[in-house]
Amino acid sequence: MIAYLNGRFMPKKDICIPVDDRGFLFSDSLYEVIRYYPGHLFRPDAHIRRLNHGAGHLALSCTDFSCLIPVVRDLIRRNDMASRDALVYIHVTRGCAPRNHPFPSPAPDPTIYVCVTPFDPGAREHRRKTGIQAITVPDIRWARCDMKTTGLTANVLANQQAVENNADEAIFVRDGVLMEGTHSNFMAVFDNTVITAPLSNYILGGITRETVLDLCRDLGIRTAESPIYTSRIHLASELIVTGTTLEVTPIVTLDGRPVRNGSPGPTTRALQAAFKKRILF
Ligand SMILES: Cc1ncc(COP(=O)(O)O)c(C=O)c1O
Repeated sequence: MIAYLNGRFMPKKDICIPVDDRGFLFSDSLYEVIRYYPGHLFRPDAHIRRLNHGAGHLALSCTDFSCLIPVVRDLIRRNDMASRDALVYIHVTRGCAPRNHPFPSPAPDPTIYVCVTPFDPGAREHRRKTGIQAITVPDIRWARCDMKTTGLTANVLANQQAVENNADEAIFVRDGVLMEGTHSNFMAVFDNTVITAPLSNYILGGITRETVLDLCRDLGIRTAESPIYTSRIHLASELIVTGTTLEVTPIVTLDGRPVRNGSPGPTTRALQAAFKKRILF
């Protein structure tokens, strides 16, 4: 497998990151995961925009990573993946410096790592048909969830809790409001309206979330970006998670309680079909 590090393509197994890298020491770093469908990279510009947003807020020495789009395309070609399903992983850190909390001065060059791995959509496709089980967990994350940083300890712990409860995803709850999943955004259908948490510093602005809201407009489905309260969640007719790997996946049980008798609903189905079409454009 060929990967990319700081301007060079090389075998992934030969990549070394110094232990002084601030990504390693402090999680002082950002990442992106982009879905590659055979022949088509899904919304690379939106992913780079989000990466640039984080880089600006972290005041990295580079805040425009649009140069990585040709790198990603080159990696797909070099790894002979053009006609396969794949995931692109981009990881950008503040760079290397002796361990000290403040930003190093002068600012080091960022460390930029990109790799591509084959992705098997089969199991995910099955879950999109049958739906997944989810649990709710307290949102113990920090208050800058809008930046896709690699500081994912809370997400790891929550997802592990889901696994230990025979569930696939955990939905974070902050002050009685369902915010988002550990690696997904969360939506609920109330009275034929798709509701999702408003963009804020408490959730990640998902590329899939944005696409799905756009598809709702195309399909004439009403949407609202407003809080989803745990106290009202039993009134929802459908629950959905959205994400780069999950696409549009129905939740059929939440904390063990069936949603819609445990079967995916019509709004989810319509959005899944529309999403499939959108992938091709
Ligand atoms: C916390 C969180 N929310 C939402 C998402 C969904 O974002 P996207 O649709 O861009 O994959 C992710 C994706 O990894 C995530 O980690």
